[in-house]
Amino acid sequence: MKTPVTVLGLGAMGTALAQAFLAAGHPTTVWNRTPGRSPELEGAIRATTAAEAVAASPLVVVCLLIDTTVRETLEGIDVTGRVIVNLTNGTPDQARSLEAAVPGAAYLDGGIMAVPAMIGGPHAFILYSGDTAAYERHQADLAVLARPLYVGADAGLAALYDIALLSAMYGMFGGAQHALALVHSAKIPAVEFTEQLLVPWVTAMLGSLPQMAADLDQPSERGAAGSNLAMQAAAYHNLLDTAVAQGVDPMLLVPMGALLQKAVASGHGDEDLAALIRLLG
Ligand SMILES: NC(=O)c1ccc[n+]([C@@H]2O[C@H](COP(=O)([O-])OP(=O)(O)OC[C@H]3O[C@@H](n4cnc5c(N)ncnc54)[C@H](OP(=O)(O)O)[C@@H]3O)[C@@H](O)[C@H]2O)c1
Repeated sequence: MKTPVTVLGLGAMGTALAQAFLAAGHPTTVWNRTPGRSPELEGAIRATTAAEAVAASPLVVVCLLIDTTVRETLEGIDVTGRVIVNLTNGTPDQARSLEAAVPGAAYLDGGIMAVPAMIGGPHAFILYSGDTAAYERHQADLAVLARPLYVGADAGLAALYDIALLSAMYGMFGGAQHALALVHSAKIPAVEFTEQLLVPWVTAMLGSLPQMAADLDQPSERGAAGSNLAMQAAAYHNLLDTAVAQGVDPMLLVPMGALLQKAVASGHGDEDLAALIRLLG
């Protein structure tokens, strides 16, 4: 028989996780603060309390709003002998602290790199960290949700990777959203601009990331800058001036301009974009 699982939280993501477990044939117990959510989960066993749900299965997946929600929900519940897999978004410190708050249980923290519609599909992956033996025991069970990637025994590591990837995503969307506001201000059709120019341009620029990362890992092998920072800082004013002239708030662009100025002022004008990473910390 497939491992019985419990899912705490039937928001958009918890529902998708429970659906994937049910589709793979796992006896699946679910609990949600507000009863009656997600009637589409046919075959799920509905627990009336979180404690009852935790008692029902050796593997307990938690997907609630934020860290405090998880703590309030698990408070006072006997988790002895359970594997708690917390897929709620949080910080590395929150993950480590939660691990300490569930004595008697094995703790895994996870970062879901997907939206609900991707769960159970080929492009989703979930980062895990924490109890190695528990991960190895349940890797196949967790694989029905998304491709599992174990990143280390420190429970905080999955959150660190997750937050790093989300930070990159928001930066990318921020730049693209500014670009769209700019073309929209000139009544240029957004879809055509996006498909024909924005996506190909961003995709081509992403190709420079591995070299940037290599410059960070091996500074001694850094080559000459093809696009030096002094040149980029000089041109950056045009980005800000054009935004203002078009009536577009430059708030998403301003921090990068300040960082470029700082790099030039501190003697890095002849280096390339990798130098900015070192200035951040
Ligand atoms: N959706 C995504 O694209 C996505 C992607 C990756 C990661 N995540 C992460 O997955 C987690 C869940 O996201 P979601 O999209 O499922 O959010 P959601 O649809 O807003 O659902 C939130 C869930 O948290 C529960 N909840 C909120 N406050 C509570 C409280 N005080 N006590 C008990 N339960 C409480 C809600 O229960 P009620 O029904 O009773 O309100 C619901 O089950 C979040 O940490 C999110 O960052 C989401």
